Amino acid sequence: MPEPAAPVRRPLFVVFEGGEGSGKSTQARGLHRRLQRIGLSSLVTRDPCGTEYGRAIERRLKRSKQFPPATELFMFAAARSLLTADVIRPALLAGAIVISDRYAPSSVAYQGYGRGIALGTIESLNRLATGGIRPDLIVLLDIPPDKGLARKQGDAWDRFHHEGLSFHDKVRKGYLEMARAEPYCWTIVDATLPSRTIAALIWARVAGMLSGHFPV
Ligand code: TMP
Repeated sequence: MPEPAAPVRRPLFVVFEGGEGSGKSTQARGLHRRLQRIGLSSLVTRDPCGTEYGRAIERRLKRSKQFPPATELFMFAAARSLLTADVIRPALLAGAIVISDRYAPSSVAYQGYGRGIALGTIESLNRLATGGIRPDLIVLLDIPPDKGLARKQGDAWDRFHHEGLSFHDKVRKGYLEMARAEPYCWTIVDATLPSRTIAALIWARVAGMLSGHFPV
């Protein structure tokens, strides 16, 4: 009798997206802990902050008014390219579940819909930066910008938090358009719901995608 084949672990890439104060980081970390509790190898990272270079870029960008939109786009793309090469691709190749707090869709929403850079330009840069890696699931934590920004009141000055509501409305519209255009890889969750309810909704969607990760 031939030996049964070893289970194949399919890598899984889950991305959290949303506007300011939508609770992405809390939910991304919560999903990571839940996966670890059931013995699955998962890694949680942040775009752009998942590498030292990305952290430096974000610090510089967020605290400054000086960068024009194209520079902002290139800085995020540079950080994403390194994050993909150093963190995301190796983890996926090792069969881990990778969770990222923001990824390529953030540039489409913020630099495209928000700042008005042509979406085609952003998509080309994103393809280069990600090497073609696409999330299996993108969780959009949707929140009206006034509610999200209210959660950020009292934080240090930040070039994105201090954009007007019309900028954040455009970002939200962009996210909703992307999610509605590709419902098989996006899920929209109302970020004003209680945190536990949000976590349960996300888990319901992720659990259905995990079969390749359980030992048989
Ligand atoms: P946050 O992850 O703590 O929300 O901060 C990241 C900020 O950077 C947020 O305001 C969104 C912005 N951003 C972009 O404008 N474009 C991008 O591609 C990414 C990754 C983030």
